[in-house]
Amino acid sequence: MENFSFCSPTQFVFGRDTENRVGDLALRHGAKRVLMVYGGGSAVRSGLVGRVEASLKAADIQCVTLSGIQPNPIDTKVREGIDLVRQNSLDFIIAVGGGSVVDTAKAIAMGAPYDGDFWDFFAGKAKPASALPVAVVLTIPAAGSEGSGDTVITNTNGLLKLGFGSQLLRPRFSVMNPDLTMTLPAYQTSCGVVDMLAHIMERYFTNTQNVEVTDRIAEGLMVSIVNTALKLVSQPNDYDARANIMWAGTVAHTGLCGVGREEDWVSHNMEHEISALYDVAHGAGLAVVFPAWMTYATSKNPTKIAQFARRVFAVAEADDTKAAQQGIAALKEFYGKIGMPTTFAQLGVEKPDIDQMVEKLHRTNGSPFGGYMKLTPTDTKAIYELMK
Ligand code: NZQ
Ligand code: ZN
Repeated sequence: MENFSFCSPTQFVFGRDTENRVGDLALRHGAKRVLMVYGGGSAVRSGLVGRVEASLKAADIQCVTLSGIQPNPIDTKVREGIDLVRQNSLDFIIAVGGGSVVDTAKAIAMGAPYDGDFWDFFAGKAKPASALPVAVVLTIPAAGSEGSGDTVITNTNGLLKLGFGSQLLRPRFSVMNPDLTMTLPAYQTSCGVVDMLAHIMERYFTNTQNVEVTDRIAEGLMVSIVNTALKLVSQPNDYDARANIMWAGTVAHTGLCGVGREEDWVSHNMEHEISALYDVAHGAGLAVVFPAWMTYATSKNPTKIAQFARRVFAVAEADDTKAAQQGIAALKEFYGKIGMPTTFAQLGVEKPDIDQMVEKLHRTNGSPFGGYMKLTPTDTKAIYELMK
């Protein structure tokens, strides 16, 4: 096990009706003038935006809104938010929505106090010295941004989808009411499930030895996510299933599942190239990428894939390569049962521009890159080909 430092300072306020506590929580965390950020409509239709506004008003907190954040959020909305913060002297940002809304809020939070353009942080040209505090009212268990210090934004100039992480961006509090997730279309629920599983797998597939505690935490989470996701297919209104999936999505991405070891993150980077070019849901893209990456990994380094197969999908096979292959088949079958694609065609991408994705992938990440396997453009091209 490697040395580590782990800090997850977010206050998680979980359960029914918790959105009505946003005003009190914001006050306690020092908010006076808030920018509330939300998406394309679901949070308005459900009445959530109105309830959060009422809660802020009751706490005597001023509120300016920025709406219309789209999935795979873009730079122009971030700049719009930065302008609003500056024009109205706002001091706190509340994201009401999913990963796209939260990530936009985080980018605004670090961009507003910065003299240059916020994209400098994503392009690696600058590091934020400060950021406005961010809080979250979560409506979809998926990205885990409510508990992470990460943000992912697409630059519309060049369709570059890049991530940035800083402890400054960890939300001060995250309000999580599982009831709010009942309105999710089944497809979005499943995309979220794939994403949270992927956040664990990126950390689980490692060559670091003797990480039994972290492995077992990860495996326990993965087993419970698989079981609960299958239950949600037939019982989408089961509160406890919604609650377990919601909490799993957070724990999957606070960083807990990665402590003490090298992480991988190749699959996420490969997926970001797909959703940047074709605007598909991140989770659906990951369902296509992960089995292909695992298949390639099995041919080079089957050990940990075999452990995953045995402990998460109960594969009983002594040979590592065969066990890994059976585990990948079981994962694909699971994705199929929850309505997720496993090929480019099923994802709706008929003619993937693999050469462009490989070029952008390595322009951003260098060559070779990866934790579990070091991958060159030849390798990543072969992995994209396996997705056909
Ligand atoms: O815009 P609205 O109308 O709200 O609709 C959204 C959106 O269309 C809908 N939705 C959300 N909550 C709902 C709901 N519909 C009905 N009822 C509800 N309760 O769901 C759709 C997807 O929303 P989005 O925020 O895009 O989903 P998600 O949370 O999966 O976020 C995806 C983004 O997060 C990034 C992804 O790359 C992608 O851009 N990620 C962020 C990470 C992070 N910050 O740590 C890590 C992840 O790996 C990921 O890369
Ligand atoms: Zn993800």
